[in-house]
Amino acid sequence: MLEKVEEACAFLKNHGYDQASIAIILGTGLGGLVNEINIEKSIDYKDIPYFPISTVESHSGKLILGTIGSKKVIAMQGRFHYYEGYSMDQVVFPVRVLKWLGVSSLFISNAAGCMNLTWNKGELMLITDHINLQPENPLRGVDSGKFGPIFTDMSEPYDPELNDKIMVAANKLDILLNKGVYVAVPGPSLETKAEYRFLRNAGADVVGMSTVPEVIAANQMGLRVAAISVLTDDCDPDNLQPINIQEILETAAIAEKSLISIIKEVVVSM
Ligand code: HPA
Repeated sequence: MLEKVEEACAFLKNHGYDQASIAIILGTGLGGLVNEINIEKSIDYKDIPYFPISTVESHSGKLILGTIGSKKVIAMQGRFHYYEGYSMDQVVFPVRVLKWLGVSSLFISNAAGCMNLTWNKGELMLITDHINLQPENPLRGVDSGKFGPIFTDMSEPYDPELNDKIMVAANKLDILLNKGVYVAVPGPSLETKAEYRFLRNAGADVVGMSTVPEVIAANQMGLRVAAISVLTDDCDPDNLQPINIQEILETAAIAEKSLISIIKEVVVSM
């Protein structure tokens, strides 16, 4: 795995991708940030050695290099989900490559179902902690020790300093930003009423099918990470409406504007 990461890294270095200290993973329906990037290079995942290829229509599969303000950033337009059939090694491969390219701070966005009934869909949530219910840990296996400690500490997986910067930006922009716990499930089916009840009782505010593997891999490598969820559907077990992916994408597109302004503000302040 390390050799593959190094090969992908060598390829990207040749294209100037070793100049950025900030990277951003754009989640489902949240690719609009790309319009705010002064794009210098854009490479299809399929052209990068060993990069998995995105299979979901709403994820376009490009690694973008550019600037936001004066800051160099790399943006992943499209990410890899466990539910698409990838191994966890594949899911976190790009994060390992980003670290090896010299990135030190990673911002992640995702779409999540909202189980905290004091909040509403369309709002944002800063992830302060998570529960991992995906079936495999990306650090499983001897190979992972090459990237950092196998028994990676997870007492504070979301960087407090980045989180502070995000809260300051949200306040300044007058955007409501909730804080809470994200639970990662394997998907791709959505949850039953009983499952939402169970997950809420377990201490989670929102539920989604991504992010946690990348956060674990980032922590192992000492890459600072912060993540924001866009709450795309209300998951009230006592009043559960059927949801469809179209609705989720539409809600994401509306909330995306606030998310983009927060990330822009934070990146420029770094
Ligand atoms: N469950 C799991 N993942 C999701 C949901 C949900 O309700 N909404 C958006 N991603």
